Amino acid sequence: MLMTTKPMFDLAYEGQFAVGAFNVNNMEITQGIIESCAEMDSPVILQISKGARSYANIAFLKRIIDACVDQYPSVPIAVHCDHGDTVQLIRECIQDGYTSVMIDGSHHDYEENVRLTTEAVEVAHAESVVVEAELGKLGGIEEDVVGLSAEEYEKNLEQFLTDPEQAKDFAQRTGIDSLAVAIGTSHGAYKFTKEPTLAFDRIEQIMKTCPGLPLVMHGSSSVPQEYVELVNKHGGRLSNAMGVPEDQIAAAVRSYGVCKVNIDTDLRLAMTAKIREVFATKPEEFDPRKYLGPARDEIRSMVKRKLEMLNSVGKAKPVVDHWRSSGAPLPRYYW
Ligand code: G3H
Ligand code: 13P
Ligand code: ZN
Repeated sequence: MLMTTKPMFDLAYEGQFAVGAFNVNNMEITQGIIESCAEMDSPVILQISKGARSYANIAFLKRIIDACVDQYPSVPIAVHCDHGDTVQLIRECIQDGYTSVMIDGSHHDYEENVRLTTEAVEVAHAESVVVEAELGKLGGIEEDVVGLSAEEYEKNLEQFLTDPEQAKDFAQRTGIDSLAVAIGTSHGAYKFTKEPTLAFDRIEQIMKTCPGLPLVMHGSSSVPQEYVELVNKHGGRLSNAMGVPEDQIAAAVRSYGVCKVNIDTDLRLAMTAKIREVFATKPEEFDPRKYLGPARDEIRSMVKRKLEMLNSVGKAKPVVDHWRSSGAPLPRYYW
């Protein structure tokens, strides 16, 4: 069932769970995610980056997601623009039927971030689409943006974290629906040089200055070492890959107003590990279904592990019931 993130976050904020936001780039990834969510009775956010839009051609991705909505009617699905950088892109995503968009002005100075975000909110809210924005800076690499190295980020962490008073001003001036916060997480597979500790005190302070505002954690892959080892065992070369410990994400989700957790890297790792394993152990194989099929299965099991970590298992029905009773409007152009 297609919806915005609002009914999901309404329940997640107080409900000690978060909704998994997984990046989709092709059919097998999307199928692995949705099959797992259906099996676990979890709501889900399917998020599409600018890179995914151009890699897959949005017309194709759109129809794959359309099939998810059609085939899995019991699963609450939000379709979200990940790291949108211009209002023009936001307009296109809304035309394409997304129910949620992120405008990421975190690389701009504060006033420009406010201006860009306010404009995006005006455009999106006119079509009943919800908006996530970002304040503070994450480490790691994002496409098109060379982020901070793990060393730089760790060394200067305090200055990159979201400022709670600024978050209050930002939320009031822009009218956003959710806020991506910098609390020590980082994009990609090379997040840290040593075991991190998330800035839980920051989350608490932001919850005080912005009561009720759903919070989002980007850069939340955990880079499970068994997958790194499998990739490397079969010819890969991932050295010093390190992620956010799963127990810290579970704690953030259960104790604070974190409603959305973004995961992409761990799905990439699962898929790559499996494909490498098939290539290495069955060198005679050349039927793509024989390596993309196991890769899809591995995505499914990775997503299941994440849904358990996020405590969103069994939350699909309560979200649907809440959505039905709240009378929340559907975006005008729905999928
Ligand atoms: O944070 C970014 C996501 O991992 C998407 O990555 O822009 O390479 O598709 P991408
Ligand atoms: P990871 O690179 O940790 O998976 O983060 C993904 C993300 O934040 C997408 O917006
Ligand atoms: Zn991100």
